[in-house]
Amino acid sequence: MGARVRKAVLPVAGLGTRVLPGAKTTPKNLLNVVDRPILSYVVEEARAAGIEHFVFIVGRGQGAIEDYFDANPEIEGILEAKGKLDILADVRRDLPQPGQMSFIRQMAPLGLGHAVWCARDVIGDEPFAVMLPDMLMMARTAALAQAVSAYEQVGGNIVVVEPAPAGEAHKYGIVALEGQEGRLNRMTGMVEKPAPGTEPSNLFISGRYVLQPEIFQILESQDRGAGGEIQLTDGMFNLMKTQDFHALEYEGTTYDCGDKLGLLRANVAFALARPELADAARQAIRELL
Ligand code: G1P
Repeated sequence: MGARVRKAVLPVAGLGTRVLPGAKTTPKNLLNVVDRPILSYVVEEARAAGIEHFVFIVGRGQGAIEDYFDANPEIEGILEAKGKLDILADVRRDLPQPGQMSFIRQMAPLGLGHAVWCARDVIGDEPFAVMLPDMLMMARTAALAQAVSAYEQVGGNIVVVEPAPAGEAHKYGIVALEGQEGRLNRMTGMVEKPAPGTEPSNLFISGRYVLQPEIFQILESQDRGAGGEIQLTDGMFNLMKTQDFHALEYEGTTYDCGDKLGLLRANVAFALARPELADAARQAIRELL
């Protein structure tokens, strides 16, 4: 069995075009779902999968992400003085141990493959996770933990997938499978944003991966792909010539928070899933309808 998956790369540099103007001054992955930023949920998911080090790939103007994961003596001091200890605990819940987070500037928006490549020195020579934080996953067993279990079972590289809504497959990375039996299947191919009608399956890459470090050499010299960007999907397809890839259809629900309606659905779903909020949220939604 290969080495343990200890580190996760979180590319967060995207502009958030579909959630502007909200994402103009607040990095899109800091937008709230109920009362916490999207990133809070994703970091929690990663911790549940045993991740110990978080590598954020950021862009210009995203310093708020570092600040969110840093102590804030002023706010914490006021909450402590006022005895608001429950809110204080909530504010501190997301804080890492010092040294558990790295922030890397992508410097140019050249694509997801380029963003992941920027993490090469911090990851080094070990398997690692990639998490696309736009995709918020609600699952009984954390989505990344399901991917890590699959990795512990079959090794190699794991790509989390799910069925695309009808007519939407061309918007995503799509996988081809050797056969389809159960949720974990060997892959034979993948393609980024296939032309409509040419999709090899309806299973799209939903934003959680376990990858081997050899991907970095491939991403370094890779040509541009769909949209003129350096695509992670193309890099993985290349790595598949020498290493195994399995697709895992995870158990849970994905909310695309990079999109207005996805963000709205995530807010509703996560409010309804919170025991202390569920009744009031249900009542509020009923009134609105
Ligand atoms: C990226 C990946 C794609 C994946 C998608 C999931 O695309 O390249 O393979 O299906 O995320 O959200 P993007 O959304 O950046 O166009």
